[in-house]
Amino acid sequence: MSDLPDLYLTATMTPSQMDELAKRFRIHSDNPPVTTRAILGGGTVLVDQAVLDAFPALEIVAINGVGYDRIDLDAVRARGVRVTTTPDVLTDDVADLAIALMLAVDRRIAFNDRTVRKGGWNVPLGRRTSGRRIGIFGFGRIGQAIARRAAPFAREVLYTARHERLGSGYRFVADIGALAEACDTLILIAPGGEATRHVVDAAVLEKLGAQGVLINVARGSLVDEPALVAALEAGTIAGAGLDVFEDEPHVPDALKAMDQVVLLPHQGSATAECRAAMSALLFANLDAHFAGLPLVTPLV
Ligand code: 8YV
Repeated sequence: MSDLPDLYLTATMTPSQMDELAKRFRIHSDNPPVTTRAILGGGTVLVDQAVLDAFPALEIVAINGVGYDRIDLDAVRARGVRVTTTPDVLTDDVADLAIALMLAVDRRIAFNDRTVRKGGWNVPLGRRTSGRRIGIFGFGRIGQAIARRAAPFAREVLYTARHERLGSGYRFVADIGALAEACDTLILIAPGGEATRHVVDAAVLEKLGAQGVLINVARGSLVDEPALVAALEAGTIAGAGLDVFEDEPHVPDALKAMDQVVLLPHQGSATAECRAAMSALLFANLDAHFAGLPLVTPLV
């Protein structure tokens, strides 16, 4: 038996990442032992009191992403367990994808592509993106990067966040209902978790209105999915671009049947460049921890 530390792996890694991990850890994807010292997970890894109790030797949770919606930070802190994420390196890619989805929905790019592949040519008109009012829910690093990209298209960029960012140059709107009312395209990029669960419900979709488009590059949990399906079916809103879903990888069949939506399999950070940079940060944090050095990007 090697004396490498035990690591509980809850995320899918590439073969080269697996090789690198295997040099450093005994990797457990199932039945992690009580001696587990590290958990490696994606942006939705679960670390609550029960997990902490199951792994008394746990020292570090390394997240391959920026989300930590299912980590009980107070419980983790109380145990002295460290948490790392991979901030900054995915900001541009997620922001790029939000804009790509917005354009894809307005110009019906996925539908038109399907039409051409089937031998078709005549398609319905799209919707003009330029001149729309673009609302952003969540104004952290990625939300601000989306705002910078949205500004050249938008008549106005508005945002809702916990706090107004003075000097941002964009209009702050206090809550998501008012934001939905004031914008034409609503882009979600706030953290997941209880605080934002189903913030987009039937009432908010009603406020977004018949010309409104919803873009979600945050977490599926922000949206009441059945309410979204109903709103799209009824024409309460015009369309949606979704990179995330409530119960991934499950996507409601009703959404798959709609031409006015664009559906992606959680691709926010999925560029080769971004994933390489995330991986470098992930390993830099793990290596620093097990060498007794300061963490590179600690969350806790
Ligand atoms: C991650 C994400 O790549 O960072 C996040 O929270 O949602 C993604 O960009 C994904 O969770 C895989 O780790």
